[in-house]
Amino acid sequence: MGSNGNLSPLPPASSPSLILAQPTQGERDRTARHTYPNWGGALTEDGYLQRETYLTTVPLARDGGITHWILTVDGGVPDERPILSSCESLRKRAVYARPSGNGEGERVVVEGVAHGIASVFTEPAFRGKGYASRMMKEVGEKLEGWQARAAGAAEEKKGVEAVEKGSSLFSVLYSDIGKTFYAKNGWAPFESTHVSIKPVKGAAPTEGQGVKVLGYHELAELCAADEKQLRADLARPGGSRTKVAILPELDAMLWHLMREDYMTKAIFGKTPTIRGAVTGEAGKRVWAIWMRGYYGGLKKPEGNVLHVLRVVVEGPEQPEETLADGLRAILQIAQHEAAEWRTEDIQIWNPNPKLRSVIDKTGIQYQLVNRDTDSIASLRWYGEKEQTSELDWVANEKFAWC
Ligand SMILES: CC(C)(COP(=O)(O)OP(=O)(O)OC[C@H]1O[C@@H](n2cnc3c(N)ncnc32)[C@H](O)[C@@H]1OP(=O)(O)O)[C@@H](O)C(=O)NCCC(=O)NCCS
Repeated sequence: MGSNGNLSPLPPASSPSLILAQPTQGERDRTARHTYPNWGGALTEDGYLQRETYLTTVPLARDGGITHWILTVDGGVPDERPILSSCESLRKRAVYARPSGNGEGERVVVEGVAHGIASVFTEPAFRGKGYASRMMKEVGEKLEGWQARAAGAAEEKKGVEAVEKGSSLFSVLYSDIGKTFYAKNGWAPFESTHVSIKPVKGAAPTEGQGVKVLGYHELAELCAADEKQLRADLARPGGSRTKVAILPELDAMLWHLMREDYMTKAIFGKTPTIRGAVTGEAGKRVWAIWMRGYYGGLKKPEGNVLHVLRVVVEGPEQPEETLADGLRAILQIAQHEAAEWRTEDIQIWNPNPKLRSVIDKTGIQYQLVNRDTDSIASLRWYGEKEQTSELDWVANEKFAWC
């Protein structure tokens, strides 16, 4: 069965003969040819297929970090069976912190794995029959135990508590079809706002304002410092709610940056050198890491966005005016880069109240957008103690997207 169209009659979505399977390379290519019109606009079809394969070899995805999933029929012959719906999942390091229950307000930080689900797709001929819903049910259950044990064991060696071994902590996805479909299937919508800033050519501050641009080689140290500060924040005593986070580690950034490299090479014939900017002395730094995302390419530039993957304020007790001076210089570099690289928007996802206040003080014009259709951050919790509504998702920024 070379095409998906000649399965007759189609099995109902509730049929016990439907299974979740991992596609062959040929089946992945077949799926990519179907998804190309939706997601490949900035590339040729072959370039898009090559990118999808390349994206299995980059940090986070390599070594089995990415898993492709299809809904198909039990006993079907690989490469000939129908692909009724498809998606992929990406393993990510994650933590949660909840009150220890010792009555002293202490919090216990638990290590583990989260999975990001992406590229949920049913080809047009099969839509509206419940296949994506069935696949999400299967995937949601499968990911609870998927690749979770290994992380628990590794963390155990480091002496960090890893309760609920053998279970992933949670899975996330970013819905482009509103808040209802995935909520019905188990993923609850969380805050999905962003600060939107316009690109400005020439906005970059002049030398001597204490701001430095960031290349690949600076990111490792910054991500390590970020993770350390985030863990300390999560462990800080107080508060009754459970906090969950995907860790803003180097590999999480590299996944985006290597994707960006592929896209910019295809579109501009070159890759950017400036991946963010930092100001301030050690312990009091402010930085932002960003990547340029292209959907429509240069034909439809309105879909091109410079995404701020992560903003970090080290030493948040500094005066907001000082922080704002630093952030202003960083954002001006972002504005210039965004214009240079033909993007039409700069987005900072889910800025916390502190960051919002600092952005206000930079004097840079921005809009706060509350998304209700695209990139709705959604989370399914695998823990037993809390309901999803009892969770705070911290560091819910673009770096966690896939
Ligand atoms: C979204 C998609 C995967 C649904 O696949 P499907 O197999 O038809 O899904 P199901 O039959 O299980 O469920 C269909 C439901 O999805 C909803 N849906 C489909 N497209 C939608 C959209 N653009 N906006 C909102 N809801 C949508 C339908 O309204 C329907 O809702 P209902 O269950 O209340 O009737 C499919 O339409 C698709 O591949 N679309 C293009 C790619 C895409 O947008 N993927 C999602 C990325 S987050």
